[in-house]
Amino acid sequence: MVSDILQTNLNGLILNNPILTASGTYGYNDEYEEFIDVSNLGAIVTKAITLKPRAGNKHTRIIETKAGMINSIGLENVGIEKFLNKKLPVLKEKNINFIMNLAGSTLDEYIELAKICNKNSIKAVELNVSCPNVKSGCLEFGVDENSLYELVSSVRQEYKGFLAVKLTPNVTSIEKLAQACQRAEADAISAINTLKGTRIKLDIINGKVNKTVVTGGYSGRGVKPVAIGAVIRIKQATDLPIIGIGGIENLNDVLEFFTAGANAVQIGTANFTHPEIAEKLVFELENFIKTNGFKDLEELKKELRK
Ligand SMILES: Cc1cc2nc3c(=O)[nH]c(=O)nc-3n(C[C@H](O)[C@H](O)[C@H](O)COP(=O)(O)O)c2cc1C
Repeated sequence: MVSDILQTNLNGLILNNPILTASGTYGYNDEYEEFIDVSNLGAIVTKAITLKPRAGNKHTRIIETKAGMINSIGLENVGIEKFLNKKLPVLKEKNINFIMNLAGSTLDEYIELAKICNKNSIKAVELNVSCPNVKSGCLEFGVDENSLYELVSSVRQEYKGFLAVKLTPNVTSIEKLAQACQRAEADAISAINTLKGTRIKLDIINGKVNKTVVTGGYSGRGVKPVAIGAVIRIKQATDLPIIGIGGIENLNDVLEFFTAGANAVQIGTANFTHPEIAEKLVFELENFIKTNGFKDLEELKKELRK
């Protein structure tokens, strides 16, 4: 149990600390229990949940790159009904704070998901409007400010809890999209989702060429500068709290995101190689604040942003 110097207030959503895990890299918690005490995290963000279960893509889904990875999972998930019946009771019983990441293919699907979350008193939701690995749906909302405004305001009408919107970096002006979210009364912006990319892996033996080509979302160490840049631009364009995501691997990365303007952070790809990393960062951040003589996290953030 960590002390309250790390307490983080995201527009009324109070978290014990600002270290969260990113959607799609942490399942629904079960996989990580053997490594850490998940209840020590600020929150976990669930894998994207859709109205119906999805099997995801059939082709190669994951490939490593020099500074990260490319994934093309295709939103494989258990669907909202199974999440509510099977996964939610476990999260509650274990006292794990969570944010539900939601994805849909149409406006109506998002509205339906919002209604279900509201009915089931889900405290916090993150709208995935930025997944690059599915043929129809969510990315289209995330790249057009008018569609995004319509989507977020429609969800806002149906869902009264904490509403974050997760933006894609694959746009010309992330500022305009963040402003559309603010006008639609979102509570926070999560940034960023993955960058669209392709890896071609060649294996050439005795003149015979074997190719593996994976197109999908690029994540990990290599995307950090893009994410930091996005956080800075969103901070300048809106008053919304920002959850910074992208390539975070150590405490220094976390501090850089706070300096850029993030109020909290999510750890994604790093969980795959270091399943204990998120909890470790909670303790390291607390220790850093104490040993450097700051009163609390807010004082540290102020100093970083001077
Ligand atoms: C395997 C994998 C699956 C992902 N699935 C989702 C998802 O379902 N919903 C979502 O909003 N983001 C998803 N993401 C994006 C991450 O949550 C995060 O925004 C991105 O990977 C950047 O952070 P990172 O560099 O720390 O991984 C996924 C990322 C990976 C690597």
